[in-house]
Amino acid sequence: MKTLTSSNVSEPFKKDYELNNILIVGATGYIGKNLIDRLQKKKCAIRCLVRNANSLKGNLPNPPQIIRGDLLDLESLKNAFKGIDTAFYLAHSLDVKNDFEKSEKIAATNFAIAAKTENIKRIIYLGALGNSTDCPLSPHLKSRKEVGVILRDSGVPVLEFQASIVLGSGSLSFEMIRALSERLPVMLMPKWVMVKAQPISVHDVMEFLLQGIDCKINQNEIVEIGGQDQFSYRDLIAEYCRQRNLKRLLIPVPVLTPWLSSLWLGLVTPVYASVGRKLIESIKNTTVVESEKAAQFFPSIKPMSVSQAMKAAIDEIEED
Ligand SMILES: NC(=O)c1ccc[n+]([C@@H]2O[C@H](COP(=O)([O-])OP(=O)(O)OC[C@H]3O[C@@H](n4cnc5c(N)ncnc54)[C@H](OP(=O)(O)O)[C@@H]3O)[C@@H](O)[C@H]2O)c1
Repeated sequence: MKTLTSSNVSEPFKKDYELNNILIVGATGYIGKNLIDRLQKKKCAIRCLVRNANSLKGNLPNPPQIIRGDLLDLESLKNAFKGIDTAFYLAHSLDVKNDFEKSEKIAATNFAIAAKTENIKRIIYLGALGNSTDCPLSPHLKSRKEVGVILRDSGVPVLEFQASIVLGSGSLSFEMIRALSERLPVMLMPKWVMVKAQPISVHDVMEFLLQGIDCKINQNEIVEIGGQDQFSYRDLIAEYCRQRNLKRLLIPVPVLTPWLSSLWLGLVTPVYASVGRKLIESIKNTTVVESEKAAQFFPSIKPMSVSQAMKAAIDEIEED
């Protein structure tokens, strides 16, 4: 394993021994931004590692400390973990065009080295559900699992949450469902959109992440999290249209590969073309909760149904 050698530039972090000192990596992403909002109400000191400080704007009552760094550059992580108790790994490289698996491996390895060097107490990682019993894991899901393995190999205790589709305004999967349903009066439904997932509201994801900071775990723990229902993308589109009173024709078709579908997605919703393709490839894998650990470790969290989660997401959009 490589070790950290020389220093990079950052402000000193005043560790508060009364508080939980938290590092968020992936703070500018969908999950990261939501987490910063929720952490504002908790007693903790927050530091965010970001590549571009401008992407973390907002009027927060307790602005987090910002450190500039890139997971692909080990040197730049040197000061990020100093004084930290718990570090959240919420980064992923869906937007990397070539060899994103390699980028994700390097990113996780550098994070693991830096976390171990400072002997932090816990890593919390939000990864992905998915099993390969029906078909091999997509490169995206495989890479998410490998990141978990790399983090666990660091020797720092890791709490890995695994989730399927996250429902909330701004979540990529939800926004794709919204864009397609709002635009297309007729939608072709290939077989793979019938594959079961277990969507979860972003509000429930936040509860798990927050309680994950203090909950008692063994050295390493993988906790699968999901909402009350198992829904396919087809069911989700139908539910979205029901709640929005949209009359849409969903026509089952025998063949339309994920690859062709992603080309079509790029035409209909160009903004999701590059990242949507990796997500679509993952839909062919069942992503449902199989273990009961979530209820054992977090008995007070009662996840929402799809209908409640969808309503909350639509309400948020309307409020905005
Ligand atoms: N959203 C969902 O529906 C969903 C569902 C299940 C699981 N998850 C998991 O939740 C986690 C977070 O997902 P998300 O949807 O919030 O992702 P996201 O919105 O795409 O954000 C990804 C984050 O990673 C950061 N990042 C990427 N490469 C980096 C690098 N080299 N150095 C530093 N930061 C880097 C990005 O920073 P920049 O702003 O600089 O690009 C961004 O903050 C992922 O592990 C994902 O698998 C998400």
